[in-house]
Amino acid sequence: MAKLKLVYACSECGTSYPKWSGQCGSCGDWNTLVEEVEGAGDDLVAPPPPTNRPGPTLIGNVGTEAGRPTPTQIPELDRVLGGGIVPGAVTLLGGEPGIGKSTLLLQLLASWDGPTLYVSAEESAQQVRLRAERLDAVRPQLWLHAETSLPHVLESIEQTKPELVVIDSIQTVFDPALGSLPGSVGQVRGCAQRLVNVAKERDIAIVLVGHVTKDGGLAGPRVLEHVVDTVLQFEGDKHHALRLLRASKHRFGPTNELGLFEMAGSGLIGVPDPSTMFLSDRRTGIPGSAVVPTMEGQRPIVVEVQALTSPGVPGVPSRRSALGLDGARLSMLMAVLGRRARLPVGENDVYASTAGGVKLVEPGLDLGVCLAVASALRNQPMPADVAVFGEVGLGGELRQVGQAARRLTEAARLGFSRVVVPANSPDGDDNIRVIRAKTLSEAIAAVGLNGDSAL
Ligand code: TYD
Ligand code: MG
Repeated sequence: MAKLKLVYACSECGTSYPKWSGQCGSCGDWNTLVEEVEGAGDDLVAPPPPTNRPGPTLIGNVGTEAGRPTPTQIPELDRVLGGGIVPGAVTLLGGEPGIGKSTLLLQLLASWDGPTLYVSAEESAQQVRLRAERLDAVRPQLWLHAETSLPHVLESIEQTKPELVVIDSIQTVFDPALGSLPGSVGQVRGCAQRLVNVAKERDIAIVLVGHVTKDGGLAGPRVLEHVVDTVLQFEGDKHHALRLLRASKHRFGPTNELGLFEMAGSGLIGVPDPSTMFLSDRRTGIPGSAVVPTMEGQRPIVVEVQALTSPGVPGVPSRRSALGLDGARLSMLMAVLGRRARLPVGENDVYASTAGGVKLVEPGLDLGVCLAVASALRNQPMPADVAVFGEVGLGGELRQVGQAARRLTEAARLGFSRVVVPANSPDGDDNIRVIRAKTLSEAIAAVGLNGDSAL
């Protein structure tokens, strides 16, 4: 048995210290250090002894069949996962309570062809059954086990032989052999490690649900990121129906794809045409609005950027407030707009947001943000049939961004007839007129926000 020692471990990143302090020295988070018993159960989580494991193989001789993803029938999930779920892979789905993790995963299990197991460590079997009825997820091959003890969970995996298992959630299952308290960093990491071993040994895909809480109590999922193959984040504003799914780590594919869902009465519904959805509430002819074809991974999404300016209080630094956009980037763009395009942003508070509650960080948005603010300052709307994209440099120059052709095609599909782009942006769609601008000032003039229209 390993020697036991009391330590203070950060519930976010897992670093342990001999003494308590208010801030974790490693990840910088506050109030995340919790008491842990180090050494308890260490011998249990040691990797299993090697049994007939393959030795080194020439890379050309390694088979590629195993490791191919199986599509899930949920296209938005497949998009984020790069095709589907890989057998033996362990995925962590993180997100705030109430965002829809259990709903998404129940829908996933219900649409899977083979036997699946849903381990509910938070809700009773009756609660899950009622939800499954709402979601039309009561399927013959879907096993349900309301259980928190890991040895029992492993037994039921043995018994039901599932191809896909959901553990909801990893913070509420516990292994009595590990010693520390349920929900502690040691428990969460130890249980996850055992489940990873089971997944690899038996080629079962496992999805772990992890809650993200800032106020301590439950261990943050960051300690798990190293042991799993894929980390998915489920985000969104609880008061909006829109939910965004992104991968922040993925051993089997790219991490920049965005999946979009809408929470409806009968569960989560994929949003295959987000551009139309984001533009549906748009009112044309209003100052402070610009439409931008952005790229999320391989997917073009046309969004509306809105801005509002109001005179600041003299002597007080003016405010810059960003919603759905990067705040530091907004401040930088406002400085460029003031210095290079000579607009009076310095004396004004600026509020900028993406319509529809979507969070976007992409340089192609820069020009849209600047023109929305210019339009707000002039109190003059942009022409309704114009979309814009391009990165803005500190010198006020416009720089080309990736995938110009796809952006142009998406803007044309949505009925825009002109797009303002950086001067050296490549050509694209014939169905849309491309207006080139070298600098921010040229772009402002091109949309008629300098006083007299050049369009
Ligand atoms: P849930 O999946 O329980 O979230 P999580 O597991 O991330 O905590 O979803 C919770 C919310 O979703 C809850 O407020 C109710 C809502 N909801 C719907 O709007 N429609 C539905 O069909 C379901 C099942 C839930
Ligand atoms: Mg849940």
